[in-house]
Amino acid sequence: MTKKILVIGGGGREHALLWKLRQTTGAKLYAGPGNPGIAGIAENVAVDPGDVAWWANFGVRHGIDLTIVGPDAPLSIGIVDAFHSRGLRIFGPTRAAAKLEWSKAFAKEFMAAEGIPTAAFRVFDEFEAALRYVRRQGAPIVVKASGLALGKGVFVCATQAEAEAALRAILVEGRFGESGREVVVEEFLDGPELSVHALCDGATFRLLPFCRDYKRRNDGNQGPMTGGMGSVALPAARVLGDIRWQVVRILDQTLAGMAKRGTPFVGCLYPGIKLTSKGVRVLEYNARFGDPETQSLVRVIGGEFPELLERCVEGTLAEAPPYPTTGFGACVVIAARAYPESRTAAKRIFGLDAAVDNGAQVFHAGTRIVDGTLCAQGGRILGATGAAPKLETALDQAYHAAARIHFDGHYYRRDIGADLRVGTLCRALRPSFFARKKDAKASGYL
Ligand code: GLY
Repeated sequence: MTKKILVIGGGGREHALLWKLRQTTGAKLYAGPGNPGIAGIAENVAVDPGDVAWWANFGVRHGIDLTIVGPDAPLSIGIVDAFHSRGLRIFGPTRAAAKLEWSKAFAKEFMAAEGIPTAAFRVFDEFEAALRYVRRQGAPIVVKASGLALGKGVFVCATQAEAEAALRAILVEGRFGESGREVVVEEFLDGPELSVHALCDGATFRLLPFCRDYKRRNDGNQGPMTGGMGSVALPAARVLGDIRWQVVRILDQTLAGMAKRGTPFVGCLYPGIKLTSKGVRVLEYNARFGDPETQSLVRVIGGEFPELLERCVEGTLAEAPPYPTTGFGACVVIAARAYPESRTAAKRIFGLDAAVDNGAQVFHAGTRIVDGTLCAQGGRILGATGAAPKLETALDQAYHAAARIHFDGHYYRRDIGADLRVGTLCRALRPSFFARKKDAKASGYL
């Protein structure tokens, strides 16, 4: 009988996941709610991903064999628990395990307890106490709303005045509502950032290629923070062995710590890490695939993807070999010029068909059909992607596609991947963990 797979979500990440599933399975695919790009490969079901009881009923009614959750919000309200309670198989962490993402305060306290390297921090729910701490510590300093905030709750403050304004916005003005009931104030760390993605079955994991996410709106990493303006997926060999072994250790410690607490992590664990002069530090955990990292990742990961997701759900990942990947993936996000401050009203999109003639693939995020015409509507609209053995070629493919797409007020960064064109990341890091190389290889992690 044909398998049925449901992907919860309707952005570029979900389009990319479904594109990979379409390529690698004969399953009937559903998306909830999906988008016009997804409509060509799956059946869109236009229901809010937050209506978790409705989706669990849908899973039972339609005999869904496997559900994959894209966004963080349904995880934070227990979509996985709701599916489990109906006997359904779902790839993603329970609400308790997803706490690694939906409470930064919990994540920091967890890391401190497990000895996982992270920035020094304090948690506050009271403005005056937080202010006193910031004044004592001085700038630069980082202020974060503890809860989910669509990527907008992190303030990297160059001055004390900026930090005080951030604290006021979160704790006094309540800009993030309940998500800002607590703040994490932490040490500023300097160095390149990487997104780590690991498929986890609660006890073990398989690493996906390392990714770079470009979070600022403008070239040169300037301008406001966004959900991500582009990404690159790098073969593991392009990241120094020393860094890879430190990451393996962090993932080991994280999975062991969560299992010990009775909340094993099943799903995609995505720590954002910083490569500092003192070694790898975890900036934050995400409990899902990154967006737009996934758009680059699916271009380079192997056909075993659906099998590995199944293994995570079954708890049999240890029996799988390391996950082979090839080359570089690149994604250039085409956004509305006003993003992230505001969203565009519906604007007709031109040039999409011509964009995919050279190995590029374009994933939809903020698109919708208006009067039978494909329109841009939202902030991040499309992700133009490329994949090739050489980074330059992957980037050329993505940029070639982006240049052919047009809508009124469109905008994209011109420097995605430019910092990676030469050499490995962070040559300066001392190779202090080579002893672990053999262990990591033997375990199948790498
Ligand atoms: N790339 C940022 C995120 O997915 O949170």
